[in-house]
Amino acid sequence: MANARLTAIGMAVPQKVVNNAYFESIIETTDEWIVSRTGIKTRYHAADNEFTSDFCVRAVQDLADKYNKDLSDVDMILVSTVSPDQPMPSMACRVQHLLKMNKAGALDIYAACAGFSYGLVVAKGLINGGSHKKILVIGAETLSRVTDFTDRTSCFLFGDGAGAVLIEADPVGNIGQCITGASGEGGIDLYISGFAPTIDGQELKMNRCIVQNGRKVFKWAVTTVAAEMKTLLAKNDLSLDQIDWFVPHSANLRIIEAICNETGFPIEKTLESIVDFGNTSSATIPIALYNGIQSGKVKKGDKIMIMGFGGGLAYAGAIIEW
Ligand code: UT7
Repeated sequence: MANARLTAIGMAVPQKVVNNAYFESIIETTDEWIVSRTGIKTRYHAADNEFTSDFCVRAVQDLADKYNKDLSDVDMILVSTVSPDQPMPSMACRVQHLLKMNKAGALDIYAACAGFSYGLVVAKGLINGGSHKKILVIGAETLSRVTDFTDRTSCFLFGDGAGAVLIEADPVGNIGQCITGASGEGGIDLYISGFAPTIDGQELKMNRCIVQNGRKVFKWAVTTVAAEMKTLLAKNDLSLDQIDWFVPHSANLRIIEAICNETGFPIEKTLESIVDFGNTSSATIPIALYNGIQSGKVKKGDKIMIMGFGGGLAYAGAIIEW
């Protein structure tokens, strides 16, 4: 059986930095409240002529440049996003076309903030099954396009950007056992409306923007992630103290702190992207991992636990040895 190895990583964000003072000017809030409740100091917003596919392409170009990778033989592109340029064609097809990857299949993954982690699970499965050898997994969002800037409980949270990784067939591999799961009964707690006016009979706010029950999702995230970390460790025959870096979805710094409190994992050994980039949904994990690697924190051989969670509600996790 072929094994899957994560061999390269890239990222991209728009140029425009948006600080908390901007939100003080449009909603009733303060920089102090945002920082103390979420940790967020800045996030990036796309320009009017920039879309999710642009950040996908830039993240892949960054990956190719930094790791000197030839991507002409990529055979599958997986893109996780909840904010595509349009519902059809898929972002993966746009990337396939824009980067002229003529040998690649193309598929979008729709699992919100768990989508990048789900992408890793799918890529590993395709490589283990022998049908594919070189796969791009991209998490990319332009959440500023699906943000309700009149909603003072959520608009300051979201940012735009992308992260991309290359997963290759390899004799040894560095992606361990993975986990996936969902709590679909929580669909109403975090959604973007589309055609249907209700979920499970409950009326939706039909503004095609992110609507969330922050407190409920917060509690679900802490309980679920803390419990599922144990499942993931057991599946990989590892204990928590063997993990060098924990990279949870960056939804809120307080969620990461609560998970660490619950599990006893040292907060200093977590990688986050929430403080500088806000919640970029599908992109938070690859952006955090990228910065951990670029800064020299993550060393060769380090064991990294990633755990995506969010809209669905859904979650997925994986262990990677860098
Ligand atoms: O990525 C997908 C997954 N998403 C998540 O995991 C998000 C999870 N949830 C959260 O991150 C947090 O629930 C939020 C950051 C969204 C909200 O923080 P919170 O600490 O849960 O605030 P809250 O909703 O419990 O509200 C606390 C107080 C309220 O005032 P009272 O009722 O205590 O007087 C709100 O009215 O904070 C008030 N508040 C604000 N104050 C200043 C709500 N929004 C704001 C605001 N500025 N922007």
